Amino acid sequence: MEVLAKMKIIGYGIRQDERQFVEQWSSQNGIGVKMTAELLTAETVDQASGYDGIVAFQQLAYSDELLEKMDQLGIHNLSLRNVGVDNINLEKATSLGIKVTNVPVYSPEAIAEFTVTQLMQLLRRSKEYARKFSNHDFRWAPQISKELNQQTVGVIGTGHIGRSAIKIFQGFGAKVIAYDAFHNKEIESQGLYVDSLSDIYKQATVITLHIPLFPETEHMLDREAFNQMNDGVFIINAARGPLIDESALIEALDSGKVGGAALDVMEDETKVFNQDLGKQEINYPAFNNLFERDNVLISPHTAFYTDVAVKNMVNISLNNNKQLFETGTADNLVEK
Ligand code: COI
Repeated sequence: MEVLAKMKIIGYGIRQDERQFVEQWSSQNGIGVKMTAELLTAETVDQASGYDGIVAFQQLAYSDELLEKMDQLGIHNLSLRNVGVDNINLEKATSLGIKVTNVPVYSPEAIAEFTVTQLMQLLRRSKEYARKFSNHDFRWAPQISKELNQQTVGVIGTGHIGRSAIKIFQGFGAKVIAYDAFHNKEIESQGLYVDSLSDIYKQATVITLHIPLFPETEHMLDREAFNQMNDGVFIINAARGPLIDESALIEALDSGKVGGAALDVMEDETKVFNQDLGKQEINYPAFNNLFERDNVLISPHTAFYTDVAVKNMVNISLNNNKQLFETGTADNLVEK
């Protein structure tokens, strides 16, 4: 107990909606947590001096310089409040003795429900209707819609999120096919797996991505992939922007190969997302191109952002940091 009483954590990038959960956790655990809204960078890390662990959440990269400074400050416990670890050099962290934890499961349903919502909007042509209605044009035609129960949904990635999405798609009566290099028993017992990504591309009328970003998955959906797909296929990406080659997607939308896309993530999203840009010009040509299209829905990486998810992200990350401090390891340790 004496050890715990001395533990001090600093939380970076803490938003207003997270504060109450941090405060609750802090009083329940008797561990002080200093909160700052600033992101964790080489410039802000000095504020962590004297703390035992850092809890952080950001889309911005955790730079090597930052990791080196953490090491110099003697802070070797870093707990991310999110799942993705593509913005941190884990090899570098390990070489410096920095232990990194993530929150592998905070609410798969949050992402899955958002995925289905966006698909429904594409199928029902909501953006086109909204544009029409804003001009007081209340006619139905020509925006005739498609039904989800008629679609073959190709789910790439059958982790927690992919599996949650599968259940919802099945509830709507869609045919689901799935691909993952690692098979899940439940999905296998339902006979949903196809043998290759090409099978997904050739059979699906909707493709949704639920995989992490690795060097091997970067630009998974490129020209070659789009060329194999059915004409008019719908693409949903609430995983990671670089999974899709945006210039190939633009070509595929131009040719009609892709009938619509819902992007909650983009290749260069930190240029635009989670900031109020007002009337500022946006220097991101692919974003500008896609944003203007009636059959493309762009949302600023909001799929995760629900009350349930945020509470879990805060609690689990703080528990991880405490566990690192107490035991030198953690159930949610991320290893390269
Ligand atoms: C994640 O949990 O990795 C997410 O995608 C959330 C994001 C805003 C960083």
